[in-house]
Parts: sequence; structure tokens; C-alpha cells
Amino acid sequence: MNSRLSLPLLYDRVSRVMPEAEWLSHEDDVAAILELKRRRNAVILAHNYQTPEIFHGVADIVGDSLALARKAVDVEADIIVLAGVHFMAETAKLLNPSKRVLIPDMQAGCSLADSITPDDVALLRLAHPGVPIITYVNTSAAVKAASDICCTSGNAKKVVESLGVPKVLMIPDEYLAQNVARETDVEIIAWHGHCEVHELFNVQDVRDLREAHPGVIVLAHPECPPDVVAEADFAGSTAVMADYVGEKKPARVVLLTECSMSDNVAVHHPDVEFIRPCNLCPHMKRITLSNIRKALEEDRHEVTVDLALAVAARRAVERMLAV
Ligand code: 13P
Ligand code: SF4
Repeated sequence: MNSRLSLPLLYDRVSRVMPEAEWLSHEDDVAAILELKRRRNAVILAHNYQTPEIFHGVADIVGDSLALARKAVDVEADIIVLAGVHFMAETAKLLNPSKRVLIPDMQAGCSLADSITPDDVALLRLAHPGVPIITYVNTSAAVKAASDICCTSGNAKKVVESLGVPKVLMIPDEYLAQNVARETDVEIIAWHGHCEVHELFNVQDVRDLREAHPGVIVLAHPECPPDVVAEADFAGSTAVMADYVGEKKPARVVLLTECSMSDNVAVHHPDVEFIRPCNLCPHMKRITLSNIRKALEEDRHEVTVDLALAVAARRAVERMLAV
């Protein structure tokens, strides 16, 4: 979609969150990427945590983890560039295996994905025989392959309740599991993984924000600790937070999540005041216009999934998409 907009029109989109001088430093890469996408028949999928010049400047499809997975299925272009982290690129490859999937930086990982291995999952299965294993998409394909079904923060409760059982394992995000457990009668056994970005928020942050910014509406991501979510006005995935702002149009809002999220949402809501304490995800920030350009110029870095794992991992993701 962006390839049809001129560079000044693209700048108009982000002018509320980016000084013109900064945009000018990006223009050369933006123009080159738009041309490379056309020439190479490529699309860019970007997560909500990507910087505004990527999110609003070159991305074709944007959203939360769930939306990116759903939309990856239908991509017809030859190449998918995933502006996000490695598990997202693997998920796109699982769901649309005939496409070449590129990630601009192979080191773009995730503390949750690093917190659990397939051997850990096998031990959990032995310890809890017959209990289904729900795995957050923020994991490797090998961990997904060892699981029964996946979930994202956008559908976790729905996935838990879809199984019709009294007890489930939900791995590896302990806080997501605890936050979902508060909303359902299903017993949830958690793992001890945490998101290194969201675990940094605490209850005192929320109280200080309310005192400094009277009337502020506090939205928290469900990867935040449960006491933070309890102190917030509302919790949801990145897409759910964006929808909340669009529908309720709070006069003042704070999004307890990654920093680029507020910038990307603020672009669409000039009447909403965004209070900006946030935490950066170092993995998401590895993706830049410059390495997206290189990815398209040099066909790098291709993400593949071991065939032996792909069938079982795809089954877990597709089972989630069917819920
Ligand atoms: P969602 O966009 O699915 O809410 O996920 C947040 C996240 O931390 C992804 O890495
Ligand atoms: Fe992983 Fe947290 Fe970064 Fe998302 S924000 S990629 S969950 S470390």
C-alpha cells in the first residue's frame, strides 16, 4: 500500500511523532525499499513495536502477533520480510512454507523464546500426564512442535476455554498465564519465563502516573506482572490496546508496553494525549530501515524450519488459528 504514496505524503503520516529532519535521514532508505519491494515482489509484515519509519513508511501489513500470523497465511508475494523478531518469521514460514521468509537481523530474539526448550516441554508432559500444553507463539518452532496448541496474548483465554478441560499448562510466560488464570475457571499451570520488557513495569509506576497525570487511562499488556495488570484500567494485546484507544478515545492514555507502540498509535489519534513512560525491546530494535533494505538487496537472512519439526509446529499454530 505504501508504494503508492509519495515520500512527502508518507511524511505527513508520521509528522506528529517524528521531526522532519529525522524523516529526511530516512527518505533514501524508504525510497529504495519501496522500489525493491516492487521489483522483487516482496511484502513487509511489521509488528506494532517497529519504529514509525518502518511501521508507517514501508510496511504492507501491520499488527499484533495474531494478526501477523493470520495475514501471513494469505500472502501471495514471493518474499515476506518480517520486521519483528525471529519467532514471528518462523511462524510466517510455517504458515506459508512456499514463500521465502527473510528477517533483517537473525539476532532479533525474545527473552520468552529463550526461556524454554523442547526438553523442558517433554519433562512438563511427563510431570503432568494428560494435561494439554498451550504454548505462547513467542517460542521456537521446536517448542511449538512439542506442544498441543499455540496462543497469543490476543486469544489466550479463548484458546484455554476452547479445550474443554479443567486444567492446562500455559507456557512459557508466567505472567500471561497468571493474568489469564484470573479470568477463567480453568486451572492453569505456568512456566517461569518472562518478557524482559514488560516485567520492568511495577505497581508504583502506575500509581505515580495517576498522580502526575490526573485522569490518565492506563492500558497494560498481559505480559506485565499480574499486580500491574490489576492496577491498570484495561489489559490486552497490542492490537487490543490500539483498538481501545480508537473506540474509547480517552483524553489521556498510557500504554504499559514497548516504546514504539505509542508512536504508532498516536499517528492516528491527534486528540489523544499519550503519556510516554515505556520500555524498549532490544530485539525489536535490531530491525532498521537499513537492514530491511539489505535484506531485500541481498536476500538475507532466510528463515527456514526443519522439516521434521514443521508439521507438528504448523499443526499447533493452525489449531490456534481455528479457535
Ligand atoms: P502482541 O503484539 O501479540 O500483543 O505481542 C506482544 C509482544 O511482546 C510480541 O513480541
Ligand atoms: Fe519478546 Fe518481550 Fe521483546 Fe516481545 S517485547 S519480543 S515478548 S522480549
